[in-house]
Amino acid sequence: MKVEFYGHVRQYQNLKKEIDANINEVLLSGAYVMGPMLKRFEAELAAYHGTKYAIGLGDGTDAIWLALMALDIGPGDEVITNANTFFATAEAIWIAGATAVLVDCCPKTKCICPEKIEAAITPKTKAIIPVHLYGQCADMVAISKLAKKHKLKVIEDNAQAIGAAGPNFKIGQLSDAATTSFIIQKNLGTFGDSGALVTNDPAIDATVRRLRNHGSTARNVHSYGFNSRLDDIHAGILSAKLKKIDNYNDLRRKWAARYTKGLQGCTTFDLPVELPGYRHVFHLYVIETKTPEMRDQLVKHLVDNGVDAKTHYSIAIHKQAGYPWGKQARVVGNVTNAEANAACCVSLPMFPELTAQEVDYVIAQVKAWDKANAAKGSAKLGAARCGKVCKCCK
Ligand SMILES: Cc1ncc(COP(=O)(O)O)c(C=O)c1O
Repeated sequence: MKVEFYGHVRQYQNLKKEIDANINEVLLSGAYVMGPMLKRFEAELAAYHGTKYAIGLGDGTDAIWLALMALDIGPGDEVITNANTFFATAEAIWIAGATAVLVDCCPKTKCICPEKIEAAITPKTKAIIPVHLYGQCADMVAISKLAKKHKLKVIEDNAQAIGAAGPNFKIGQLSDAATTSFIIQKNLGTFGDSGALVTNDPAIDATVRRLRNHGSTARNVHSYGFNSRLDDIHAGILSAKLKKIDNYNDLRRKWAARYTKGLQGCTTFDLPVELPGYRHVFHLYVIETKTPEMRDQLVKHLVDNGVDAKTHYSIAIHKQAGYPWGKQARVVGNVTNAEANAACCVSLPMFPELTAQEVDYVIAQVKAWDKANAAKGSAKLGAARCGKVCKCCK
């Protein structure tokens, strides 16, 4: 049996009628950039988040640095984020000209640790960018409390968790802005690149709207800006898929629960944790082996047996060759949880259109490998468990 990592074509086949109808509507409208379909999708996206504004952008990376720019954050300013995130989070801070300050994640959730944020704050700190990694929200209540105390801005990097929520908070409610990516593999993904920003702040909305369109709000009238617009064809695809996102996320949660039940009792790795009261939307289902060697062996075993397992993200930002490429960056404190995560993470196939047979086949393959390696697993303290469990994870 073969189990793919992504199910893009299955999703298209299941929603072909709605997607094709929207694409057709755009093609026949003659308006392909900043047209009515973009306007419609922006309104739907704002309504979905319960925010006043949503702005469609070229991609999720642009969304972050445009948010920073709109908040007047740039050279000389420090922005705190996770050491364990997709590279783009730090990249966006550098594009804005600011200093990326990398701190550790909580050992359980893999999201940025509020205790570590506080230790990294200096007079130059201007913002925090928590990443809702793998589909679970960071502790936004603690983060927004810290931000208020130190007068900092908060931009949620929500590329991986559209539709997730925390206990008594929704994404976009406890921050200045939340950004997202619609690259195909995301929970809400189009057939190409694009992204968005949602906010309740009219000044951020107005500035990002202007910046994304060559600094223009009226024909022939310009100030400094860029080109970072969400095309109407992509907006049409996303509009069709947005109506299904809660159902897609429910299916991801169903497959995650099946993995978790099926893999109970394995001793060579830790399973992902959903904190009480949170809605984890499992952009990725990531297990952590107890040693880096085991990770490489498990991935090989799965790939050799037809399961397309991947790693997210196997090299932490500060460990990439050439870091920090002449840009301003700082790692604060030890980042052992982030480094253990990089060394030991294994992502199992996760998409809404998986079948029970496919999930059960993956479980069987992982269990077979676990059984064969159990002696090594139970003998060692997992790298992933070396980090002290912080208050937020207890
Ligand atoms: C956490 C995170 N931030 C930012 C991005 C950047 O988004 P994009 O690829 O649309 O630029 C991504 C994904 O690609 C991501 O996973």
